[in-house]
Amino acid sequence: MSERYLFAGARVIDPASGRDEVADVLVVDGTIASLEHGAGNARVIGCTGLILAPGLVDPHTHLREPGREDKETVETGCRAAALGGYTAVSPMANTDPVADNAAVIHEVLDLGAKAGLSDVFPVGAITRGIEGEVIAELGEMVETGVRIFSDDGHAVPNPRVLRNALTYVKAFDDVVIAEHCEDDALAQDGQMHEGYHSYSLGLAGKPRESEEIVVARDLAVARLTGGRLHLLHLSSAGSVQMVRRAKAEGLRVTAEVTPHHLTFTDEDLLTYDTNFKVNPPIRTAEDRDALRAGLSDGTIDVVGTDHAPHAVEEKEVEFDQAPPGTIGLETALAAILTHLVEPGLLSLARAIEVLSSAPARLIGAAEHGGPIEPGRPANLVVFDPDVEWVVEPPFASKSRNSAFTGTTLKGKVLHTMYRGELVVADGKAQR
Ligand code: NCD
Repeated sequence: MSERYLFAGARVIDPASGRDEVADVLVVDGTIASLEHGAGNARVIGCTGLILAPGLVDPHTHLREPGREDKETVETGCRAAALGGYTAVSPMANTDPVADNAAVIHEVLDLGAKAGLSDVFPVGAITRGIEGEVIAELGEMVETGVRIFSDDGHAVPNPRVLRNALTYVKAFDDVVIAEHCEDDALAQDGQMHEGYHSYSLGLAGKPRESEEIVVARDLAVARLTGGRLHLLHLSSAGSVQMVRRAKAEGLRVTAEVTPHHLTFTDEDLLTYDTNFKVNPPIRTAEDRDALRAGLSDGTIDVVGTDHAPHAVEEKEVEFDQAPPGTIGLETALAAILTHLVEPGLLSLARAIEVLSSAPARLIGAAEHGGPIEPGRPANLVVFDPDVEWVVEPPFASKSRNSAFTGTTLKGKVLHTMYRGELVVADGKAQR
């Protein structure tokens, strides 16, 4: 017996086809079968007043496996992803051991397949052990399907090494080098954005320049090589302006921003809440507004969660002892809807583009990000744009270090369909 689902009466928003209309979406055996009316004998999922979009794609997440399974596993991270509306995630390489060779990549791929809750597209390290010195086995990782390389957590410190990496990936049309833009020397010991609030709190700061120096250098090396460069989690207005100019010049550069950098400011750190301690730091309202404008005008291409789970006992310590990071998979869509779409800063179609179709292109997830058309794999999310909810533990993530804890968000994921399976139904994980 074939499995048939009918998403009835949903507003379908699909940036890849430009579609924004009410339709019935019929899924048969994992594939979108039609957008015409009429169900046959399908299981009907009433979607009146709801939005149906391509499943979200997170180009930047930390699943911590192998090595720190107490914080997250591929399975728990993928369940959190599914609850957040994601059907594909790219876990970063800063695991233990580091994902700098085909064996670790295969392990993560196998764990993802075993969990079967979303597609997993591992990021490979640029340098061996993320030590910044020797280029990792990029070729053997490309053969396993890796399309994005990053030493996330650190920038590649040596511009010559970066030059070699960017030159190497030119051999592959669809492979990109993703940089964490922070100069370790200038950012050293910094706990938060350097400015009025870091002075008043007595915490060591990280100046904007610790990011902007790396952005400027990396754009110069991208120009030198012609290699494809992606800049992770931008935090400063100056970085946005540099990327805008680089794109106008025709450089092959893309950029990312996180929901927390789009939402909060350094004033939120006045509570000393360690969940706001992230790399790069959350900066001023002026920076946040520049990030929002950059996302809206296309300077910034994608939203990545930088879901960075940490154990309770690690985060519940003095501010300067806590590791940086906030979880984000379960709140990203609602945060973007609440803080960008609701106030009119971003259209709903652009929000879905930056959360789904654009990151799918970036990480080479051809079966995700739409278009929602007959014959395509059924990777879909359905959400209610009007439901308000308060973010609070428990989370599906093994960790609870969410910067959004206690805040009210508007918009809730109800159903996530991954390859034709309803892995989340009525807001609940099905397994
Ligand atoms: C990241 C993590 O925890 O892996 N944390 C973060 O705040 N972004 C690593 C990093 O980028 O520093």
